Amino acid sequence: METWEAIRSRRNVRSFTDQPIPGDHLDEILEAGRRAPSSRNWQPWDFVVVTSRATLTELSRVHAGAAHVADAAAAVAVVATPVPPGEDRRRGTLYFDLGQATMSMMLAATGLRIGSGHAGVSDQDLARKVLGLPADKFCAYVVSFGYPADRALSMIRHPDRRPLAQIVHREQY
Ligand SMILES: Cc1cc2nc3c(=O)[nH]c(=O)nc-3n(C[C@H](O)[C@H](O)[C@H](O)COP(=O)(O)O)c2cc1C
Repeated sequence: METWEAIRSRRNVRSFTDQPIPGDHLDEILEAGRRAPSSRNWQPWDFVVVTSRATLTELSRVHAGAAHVADAAAAVAVVATPVPPGEDRRRGTLYFDLGQATMSMMLAATGLRIGSGHAGVSDQDLARKVLGLPADKFCAYVVSFGYPADRALSMIRHPDRRPLAQIVHREQY
């Protein structure tokens, strides 16, 4: 799938078939995350890839909106070092950069016709235990990957988005 088609076809997928993701495709998704840009190239991320059904099931309990992780063929936990309180600017940059890596992985997956879905993490203790994270790390997000069980990825003609004319300001706001 070409980039423009992938951009128009990506959507949050929350139910997946049992089909495993080939190893080289999973590697391609991770490589897309690795190549993401970041502020001063600090690359503040680590990725924990999970494919074991038992671990995916445990991981799906880290957040109310993470149930889809239990069904996924694979999940990538996006892990980072917390930014100390008071460093709001750096925290903003951290999340911006983690978001870029996440979106790169999701678009790479879409290009391979693999669905993806975000999950927040509210129970950090559980995430730390399930993922075996060192004490100085936290899990910012979990991303599910797998083949969509509802319908294959295809171009979304009318996305649920604000109209372009409302959000684009030309020359001045
Ligand atoms: C930062 C962030 C956190 C999200 N957390 C969750 C989540 O915990 N569970 C979930 O099912 N979807 C989650 N989503 C997915 C959004 O709900 C989804 O992207 C949005 O509704 C637009 O739908 P679309 O991605 O299908 O276009 C999250 C998305 C973002 C960007």
